[in-house]
Amino acid sequence: MRIGILGGTGPAGSALAARLASIGYDVVIGSRSKYRAMETCDGLIAKWPDLAARLEAGDNPAACSCDLIVIATPWDSAATTAQESEEALAGKVVVSMANALVRVGHEFQPLVPPRGSVAAHVQAAVPRCRVVAAFHHLPAKELGALGSPIDSDVLICGDDIDAIKAVSDIVERIPGCRPLHAGELSNAMAIEAFTAVLLQLNVRYRTRVAPKLTGIKLAPKTSVVPPVTTPVADGTTTAAKSGATVTEASPVETPS
Ligand SMILES: NC(=O)c1ccc[n+]([C@@H]2O[C@H](COP(=O)([O-])OP(=O)(O)OC[C@H]3O[C@@H](n4cnc5c(N)ncnc54)[C@H](OP(=O)(O)O)[C@@H]3O)[C@@H](O)[C@H]2O)c1
Repeated sequence: MRIGILGGTGPAGSALAARLASIGYDVVIGSRSKYRAMETCDGLIAKWPDLAARLEAGDNPAACSCDLIVIATPWDSAATTAQESEEALAGKVVVSMANALVRVGHEFQPLVPPRGSVAAHVQAAVPRCRVVAAFHHLPAKELGALGSPIDSDVLICGDDIDAIKAVSDIVERIPGCRPLHAGELSNAMAIEAFTAVLLQLNVRYRTRVAPKLTGIKLAPKTSVVPPVTTPVADGTTTAAKSGATVTEASPVETPS
């Protein structure tokens, strides 16, 4: 699979590019300037020569030609950056990792973007792609420390179950990371905002925290909800809602 990263020249995008290349993906580092992407790519290859065959520099449109695309720009340019390549992104899985935050003095505070989250804003701007929100809580430093596992859960949400599965499969391959299906795209609001809490904890406790949730022992499973029957006045029943797809716990242990 080829993965393109929009804004792949920043700390988050370049670290993610290196990490994904290190676990076997071909990665196109995108940028508004191909020359900046080349500089970033050269820098990564100088550090990890083994990744040379898997890393490529391009502009953002070149990154959009990949199978799966990650948006790693600042939050307020994520939707417009995606929209510029609307046609190329149609039908594809687009991962939004942007957090809308502001730092006020020593405090990190979440902002509310249009549609409630950056991910939902991107989805509205590029309706034909399948947006998945993920990677918000993985710090660039840990992503780029290729010799070390990242000890963290990765909360993933979106409205397309196949797209979530595709992203979960990628996360599963990152040493130390556990992908967790955290619901529909509407939950991106909470996931993005929670980043402010994590950054605040980093400052307050002079550390680097990562989310790890307790109590989840079962793998997620997708199933179709059986029709819900409700009684009606004449004593018969009627189907109130049927065919909704949900994810529930299955009795399958996750691989350790
Ligand atoms: N840093 C982290 O540890 C971390 C962790 C998790 C999630 N995130 C999220 O990941 C995203 C990227 O983080 P970052 O720290 O790497 O950000 P960044 O350095 O501020 O920006 C990343 C790249 O986005 C491009 N860019 C900047 N302004 C732009 C604009 N107006 N329009 C289009 N592209 C623009 C730039 O690439 P070109 O100039 O080459 O185009 C830049 O190198 C953010 O939304 C952040 O919330 C960050």
